[in-house]
Amino acid sequence: MHCIVLCDTLYATGVSRLQWYRMTGRLFRRAALFSTFITLFSLAWSIAHRNSLSIYTWQEAFAVAAILVIAPSLALSSFAYFWNFADKLVVYRKSLGVQGLLLGLVHIGIAIVNNGIASSALTLESTRDLSIVTGYLATLLFVLMPVATSGRGIRILGGKRVRLALRYLGYTGYLLVLAHGALIAGDRWLRWLQTLDPMIPPATLGAFVIGVAVVLLRIALFVSQVHKKHVARA
Ligand code: HEM
Repeated sequence: MHCIVLCDTLYATGVSRLQWYRMTGRLFRRAALFSTFITLFSLAWSIAHRNSLSIYTWQEAFAVAAILVIAPSLALSSFAYFWNFADKLVVYRKSLGVQGLLLGLVHIGIAIVNNGIASSALTLESTRDLSIVTGYLATLLFVLMPVATSGRGIRILGGKRVRLALRYLGYTGYLLVLAHGALIAGDRWLRWLQTLDPMIPPATLGAFVIGVAVVLLRIALFVSQVHKKHVARA
């Protein structure tokens, strides 16, 4: 069930290094196929909306792909709770999360090439500055996730605390990324909602809606767990 931790725990507690590499390698390769598909899909969506292929299209496509690849990494636990079919997919959460982070890093790299390192001139007085701060904070939290699930992280924190840390780091990071996107692209989304022109919505708006759905699903899981506890106590 908790294989993000389990795979690393196995490594920490006995499975040979070779077996561990084979297992995680297989998961990573399959997740990479999915991530590649999502990246191509995001690129096609951005091109269709913008009707052009510029460096901004690439920057947007990688931002969208990051949000869409991190989405199942977070949501698979909720899916597995509500629907049995997702049980066997939870093993992909870590690979998807790491690959979503890598896509986010490519997005940041393109943004820096486009605009220079924005963080060097931040005054925090504009929504753009706030957006960039939330973007960097989110990235920091995402980077801490693989650190927590490393063999050493698990030995120091213990499996239960690692799972808790992953939940808080993942969802706080995701909320920050959604805030980052909304702060910087919100005006464009509103303009599109008012005009519906062009017909195809901004890819970032689509990613934002899916991101909000992931967070709502986690809230539903929390409410259901609390409800179950109350029923059991009564
Ligand atoms: C809806 C999704 C997203 C949108 C619309 C978006 C948009 C943008 C834009 C337009 C910039 C350039 C800002 C500027 O210099 O004026 C930017 C930069 C940045 N983005 Fe995103 N982004 C999104 C997702 C992400 C994700 C998933 C991450 C992290 C994993 C991220 C992290 C950053 C960071 C750290 C910067 C600042 C880079 C710099 O120093 O210039 N963004 N983003």
